[in-house]
Amino acid sequence: MAELRHFLDLDRLDSATLRGILDVAVTLKSNASDRALLPGRTLALVFEKPSTRTRISFEVAIQQLGGHAVVLDQSGSQLGRGETVADTARVLSQYVDVIMLRTSAPENLLEMADAASVPVINGLTNASHPCQIMADVMTFEEHKGPIAGKAVAWSGDSNNVAASWVHAAVKFEFELRLASPVSLQLAPALLDWAHSNGGRVTVSDDPNAAVDGADCVVTDTWFSMGDDQIEERRSLLEPYRIDTALMARAKDDAIFMHCLPAHRGDEVDSEVIDGPQSVVWREAGNRLPAQKSILMWCLGEGGIDA
Ligand code: CP
Ligand code: NVA
Repeated sequence: MAELRHFLDLDRLDSATLRGILDVAVTLKSNASDRALLPGRTLALVFEKPSTRTRISFEVAIQQLGGHAVVLDQSGSQLGRGETVADTARVLSQYVDVIMLRTSAPENLLEMADAASVPVINGLTNASHPCQIMADVMTFEEHKGPIAGKAVAWSGDSNNVAASWVHAAVKFEFELRLASPVSLQLAPALLDWAHSNGGRVTVSDDPNAAVDGADCVVTDTWFSMGDDQIEERRSLLEPYRIDTALMARAKDDAIFMHCLPAHRGDEVDSEVIDGPQSVVWREAGNRLPAQKSILMWCLGEGGIDA
């Protein structure tokens, strides 16, 4: 039996596959009238954490492709009463063609993929958010052209979204400069992986140095779902806020990105996220074509080699 095409993390897929998925996403976006490319296919969306964008964009994506989605959340399912992820995977595989899971522990995602007999998509874990970063790379390239060789600066908490940016920097060959307080920096193992795979990824606690001359400035919430020690984190992260002064250190035509939801006055000031350099609404919109393409790749459609 052919190996299942799970979309678990960007570091598990080769650059040509990821580029192929983005190329199809661009085509799907420009031919929005193309319908029914996945007729009758069913997608299970399993949420152990809240979502606005991921839920709605996946539901609309499969519906526009001619299939449909069923949604399961923690409180409305037996997952909330202790049924295992593996058993859930075995059962859902009898009903649907593809499963998306949003969960806390990345081990849950691997358990789902190991037990499922249909492809599994990572809809965010505490460790990564690969669907988001596919839409982000697509958005970058719509505004700035090919991302290879460009410089992206991250200032804030080096969280799950930052980790997927590291994977993307290696796979799409751009420079990534991460600035975070020392206690909120990424795990050394991830940086070792990036460097041993030729990635140009730097880490410091200096937001000014990270942003200087960058093509894109990106951040995310200081308080990811499940984070605690709110006041301690806030005081550590204050110097990393993207305000107009920090944004001005980037190139004059640099763009600002944020996966959303945003917290104005914390990680970004409204002058930046609501200002002329911000592309956050298009970024959110691109979740739709990016995830249509991911669904098509998982299901062996779209002509993208594994
Ligand atoms: N960016 C993102 O994944 O948003 P949601 O949590 O609303 O899905
Ligand atoms: N880092 C955030 C991303 C939300 C889309 C979180 O995990 O809550």
